[in-house]
Amino acid sequence: MPEKIKVGIVGVSGYTGRELLRILKYHPNVQIFEVFGSQSRGVFLSNLHPMLNLKFDLEVKDFFSESHNADVYFVCVPHGKAQDVVSLLYREGKRVIDLSADYRLKEASVYENTYGVKHNHKDLLQVAVYGMPEIFKANIRNAAIVANPGCLARATLLSLYPLLDSGLIKNKDCVVVDAKTGVSGAGMSLRDDLHFPHMNENLKPYAPLHHRHVPEIIQEISNFAGFSINLMFVPHLVAIDRGILVSTYFTTSEEISNEKLFEIYSNFYSDSPFVKVIYRNLPEIKNVRATNYVQIGFETSNNSGVVFVALDNLTSGASANAVHNMNIMFDFKETSGLEEMSPLYP
Ligand SMILES: NC(=O)c1ccc[n+]([C@@H]2O[C@H](COP(=O)([O-])OP(=O)(O)OC[C@H]3O[C@@H](n4cnc5c(N)ncnc54)[C@H](OP(=O)(O)O)[C@@H]3O)[C@@H](O)[C@H]2O)c1
Repeated sequence: MPEKIKVGIVGVSGYTGRELLRILKYHPNVQIFEVFGSQSRGVFLSNLHPMLNLKFDLEVKDFFSESHNADVYFVCVPHGKAQDVVSLLYREGKRVIDLSADYRLKEASVYENTYGVKHNHKDLLQVAVYGMPEIFKANIRNAAIVANPGCLARATLLSLYPLLDSGLIKNKDCVVVDAKTGVSGAGMSLRDDLHFPHMNENLKPYAPLHHRHVPEIIQEISNFAGFSINLMFVPHLVAIDRGILVSTYFTTSEEISNEKLFEIYSNFYSDSPFVKVIYRNLPEIKNVRATNYVQIGFETSNNSGVVFVALDNLTSGASANAVHNMNIMFDFKETSGLEEMSPLYP
C-alpha cells in the first residue's frame, strides 16, 4: 500500500462532504485527489469552503462525465442519488464508502417502501458491508462497498448491542428509544420547517415510531442477536447545529445496577477506541461535539435501566465514522486522523 492513498469525495459541497475535508486535511495517509458535485460543478474548493483554509485547491467536477482516478470514494449525496454513483464506482473496481441509506438495507423491497425510491442495483445490496466498526471490523477490512450507518441508527445500536449480547433484553422485549438530534442532520438543503425563526428555541418530535432508520435498526438487531425486539423509536429535532443524544429505556427480569451495566458495556467496547463508557457522569452532546468519540452512560432503578448515548451526527454519525471505516479498509492505524479531535468547549 502506498504511503498516501488518493481519495475522491462525491457531494463535497454538502455538510458531510465538507466535514470530510475538515477531517482528511490532517490525515497522514490521505491525499484528497478529486471532488464531485452537482450544482457546485466548476467551483473551486477555495471558494466553496474558504473557512477550511486548505493548502491545495481542486475544482468540483461532474461525476458521471469525468473519469475516476482515486483509490477510494466517499459518497455524500442524498439517498436515491447515491445508488448509481456507488454502482458505477464498484464496477470500475473502486472501493466505496457510501454515507447515504442506499446500501444499508439488505432487502430491496424494504428500501423501496422506506425511502419511496426504486433500487436499480439490487445485486449490490449483499456486497455492501454495514459500516459499524465496533461490530464488523473484519468484514469492513475487505469490503468493496461500505454502507455507513445512519446517524440515529448508529447511536441507537451502540446503546443496544451490549444489552442484546448480555441477554438483558431478549426476543420481543419492548425497548423505548427517545432520540434528540441537531438540525444539520437534515443536510443543507432549504426547508420551511428548518428556517431559523421556526427552529430557533424549538424542540419537536418528528416521524415518531415511523422514522426511516427504524428498518435499519431492526435489521441490524436481528443480524446481531438473531431475534427482534418491539422497538418504540421517537426522534426529536432540537435547536442545535449538531449532535445526537439517545436515551434507551428498558426493563429486565432481574435487578440491575449501574456497576453491572458499566462492567457489561466496558467489556463489550474494550476493543473500540472511540466508544467511551462513563460511570460517574452522564453523556452530553457538548462532550463529543465535532469528534468521532461516543459517550455512553446509564442510570438504573430496581429492574429498570436507561442507557444514554451522545455522539455528533456529522462526525461519529457520518464523516468521521466513514474515515474510521477507511482506516480499517486500508490497514491504517485504526485511529489515524481521528484520535486527536477534541470537542469545542464551551
Ligand atoms: N447530515 C447528517 O448528519 C448525515 C448523517 C449521516 C448520513 N447522512 C447522509 O449523507 C448524505 C449527505 O448528507 P449531507 O447532510 O451532507 O447532505 P447535503 O448537505 O444536503 O449535501 C448533499 C450533497 O449532495 C450533492 N449532490 C446532490 N445530487 C448530486 C448528484 N447527482 N451528483 C453529485 N453530487 C450531488 C450536493 O452537491 P451540489 O451542492 O453540488 O448540488 C451536495 O454536496 C445523505 O445521503 C445523508 O442522508 C447525513
